[in-house]
Amino acid sequence: FYLKRNELNEHLGKDEKVTLGFAQVGNESAWRTANTDSIIKAADHENVDLQLKNAHNNQEKQIAIMREFIKQKVDVIAFSPLVEHGWEEVLQEAKNAGIPVILSDREIKVQDNSLWTAFIGSDFVEEGRRAAQWIVDHMESSKDTAHIIELEGTKNSAPATDRKLGFKEVLENHHNLHIIDSLLGDFTLGKGKEMMEKALQQFGSEIDIVYAHNDDMAIGAIEAIEEYGLRPGIDIKIISIDATNKAFKALSTGKLNFTVECNPLLGPQIMQAAKELKNGREIPMRIITSEETFTQEEAKKEMKKRNY
Ligand code: AHR
Repeated sequence: FYLKRNELNEHLGKDEKVTLGFAQVGNESAWRTANTDSIIKAADHENVDLQLKNAHNNQEKQIAIMREFIKQKVDVIAFSPLVEHGWEEVLQEAKNAGIPVILSDREIKVQDNSLWTAFIGSDFVEEGRRAAQWIVDHMESSKDTAHIIELEGTKNSAPATDRKLGFKEVLENHHNLHIIDSLLGDFTLGKGKEMMEKALQQFGSEIDIVYAHNDDMAIGAIEAIEEYGLRPGIDIKIISIDATNKAFKALSTGKLNFTVECNPLLGPQIMQAAKELKNGREIPMRIITSEETFTQEEAKKEMKKRNY
């Protein structure tokens, strides 16, 4: 995708300015804040006329925002879908109006894939696999039993569904690793903490591992474990997804054991794609970001570089 950039620059003089309507999903996490900042900065840098609205984790609101963009006749719409289902009608309206739609960070499930133009984001199933693989690799013995609490992200959202799927896929070959409960933490620190308190009340020190679908919920779990009188990272191992600065800090103090990166800095790719579409050029349907994983040692080295 980036190889096309030079080609694009050659044409820059001829390109028309693009108006991009972005329907952001919410403000639920540190990841999301970094994602929104990246979109604003990239729009400014690329001279894109950005109309950014926030749906506050409400699908009806997100659809209403998209309808406003259609009415305004923006050139391109991008959105981070709250959940996977229920987008057909509004996407059909955008298609009828000739407005291409970019899926930012989360995919959707629709019968007709011509309703959207491109997806830019991560492979969430692979993130789940990587989280589980760390557990498999760090069990002292393959016969040791481990009780896992899963803190799930927003119900029916692509990251929650796929991170669960990838994790379970790896666990299927390891019958000693058991998810004893899966609790909805909505990708927020507060809900993650509340669910972890609930899990501790029910299972107490029987819990060996927490798998949190994002860093914010893992931080909430750390707080709950400490208040309960156990040591996060030691008595209960914690694995999360995102690799934000907060997670790096928790890794460096030994309270978090492992984080799988999910890159929120999608702004430059989204602006590039919007410009290509406005100027009638084709772009790949799926643009997947490459990502890493971080142990406690790696986080200590990388921490200063992580500014979100
Ligand atoms: O869709 C990406 C996920 O949404 C991030 O992992 C999470 O932190 C965010 O809220």
